[in-house]
Amino acid sequence: MLWTIFLLLNGLLILVLRYSTRTRQDNEPPLDKGFFPWLGHALEFGKDAAKFLARMKERHGDIFTVCVAGRYVTVLLDPNSFDAVINDTVFFDFTRNRNQLMKKIFSLQLPSITPRAERHWMERHFQDVSLSKLSSSMNTHIQSLLLSDQHDCSPSGWRQDGLFSLCYSLLFRAGYLTLFERRDNASAVYKEFRKFDDLLAKLARGSLKRGETKTANSCRVRLWELLSPNCLNGGSGSNSWQQSYHGFLQEEGVDAEMQQRALLLQLWTTQCNAGPAAFWLLGFLLTHPEAMEAVKSEIRGLARPDAALQSSAITLLEAHSTPVLDGVLSETLRLTAAVMISREVVQDKILLTASGKNYYLRKGDRVCLFPFLSPQMDPQIHQEPQIFKYDRFLNEVGSSPGENRTVKDKFYKDGNAVKYCTMPWGAGSSICIGKDFAVTAIKQ
Ligand code: HEM
Repeated sequence: MLWTIFLLLNGLLILVLRYSTRTRQDNEPPLDKGFFPWLGHALEFGKDAAKFLARMKERHGDIFTVCVAGRYVTVLLDPNSFDAVINDTVFFDFTRNRNQLMKKIFSLQLPSITPRAERHWMERHFQDVSLSKLSSSMNTHIQSLLLSDQHDCSPSGWRQDGLFSLCYSLLFRAGYLTLFERRDNASAVYKEFRKFDDLLAKLARGSLKRGETKTANSCRVRLWELLSPNCLNGGSGSNSWQQSYHGFLQEEGVDAEMQQRALLLQLWTTQCNAGPAAFWLLGFLLTHPEAMEAVKSEIRGLARPDAALQSSAITLLEAHSTPVLDGVLSETLRLTAAVMISREVVQDKILLTASGKNYYLRKGDRVCLFPFLSPQMDPQIHQEPQIFKYDRFLNEVGSSPGENRTVKDKFYKDGNAVKYCTMPWGAGSSICIGKDFAVTAIKQ
């Protein structure tokens, strides 16, 4: 017993010494280890990353290294230097971290599949004709869900719901019906998914309480069952996206259990963002009448007098540009999307930033980009960044207001054009594949 305690204490001491003795070397970014040995800034980072990183940016500038639960994370906040990380797949790797999260959150391991192969397979479904078919199917499902929800209304014809639940539930169920096989259980999948989604951040950080672990595990098992496709039980003869995914997994030699688990990962990847984004978009429109009026007037302008808007929404959206609605969506995502782009340094690296400085990064550390702080909330790029301005992403061309509006994508910092003025879809080799599908769905 004494020996065990002695060995444990020794191990702890070695860990604490190892992680608290690091000092900043020449050419390394400013180092901030935090007050607690080993733990460093983990608590603050986990609680509110945006607030913590804003404070660090004020203290250290656009690049710094912090200690987070034994890991050293270099945070880069200069958008003009992002490409040096995003486009470098030799010194920086994103698969290891992704695989760890897949295992932690979805109990999923797919060692035989390279991210490149999976991406390639996905891209086939979200481009050109396939994309058009998916968007059209999405439109049909949105309409029929709205109509069938109407049947459940009270005799007075009204039902009350929260805006978030309305948007998320509608887009989730329509997206599920568009991509997945089982047609009869969309509401049950949605209900179970929301419970799981609520615990996901804690699952990723490993900070679930005991009761929550039980809930997360049972949601996961229930969702695996609910998603279990008909095609695994003898084949349904359908030609769905889900069945194509099964074909892909089978070709890659993935066993039946992992195939089933992979569906939950795909459900999350394809359904967790569009509903909340639609909620924010509608929320901003409802609280900014001038924005609502501009969008309505643009949409009215699309509908020809002889064409019923509702029966051809998807055709209208495909045939016409909608710069005002696009701009409102960009502004919405600028204010609400907070993606953290993370890479592992797999070889010692000299990082050359846009300002011409060289920084030495150590193998084994992590590099994080957090575009929410910059470019999205950077006052030098976007004036009054906390305020929703529906026309922030609009160019006005022509003499009368509203005439010939185009999407504005040129923004400047210190007189220089910035490459990324907002980054809700990520960038580089892991950029969102479903962007066009998501934008069309939200617009519908
Ligand atoms: C407003 C809605 C959405 C937003 C803001 C969004 C955002 C993102 C972001 C930031 C990433 C990159 C994550 C990273 O760097 O690790 C990503 C990846 C991805 N997104 Fe989306 N997404 C949305 C909707 C969708 C939809 C509707 C689909 C498909 C139906 C989709 C499919 C994907 C896929 C497959 C990836 C993984 C790409 C890869 O790992 O190479 N997304 N998304």
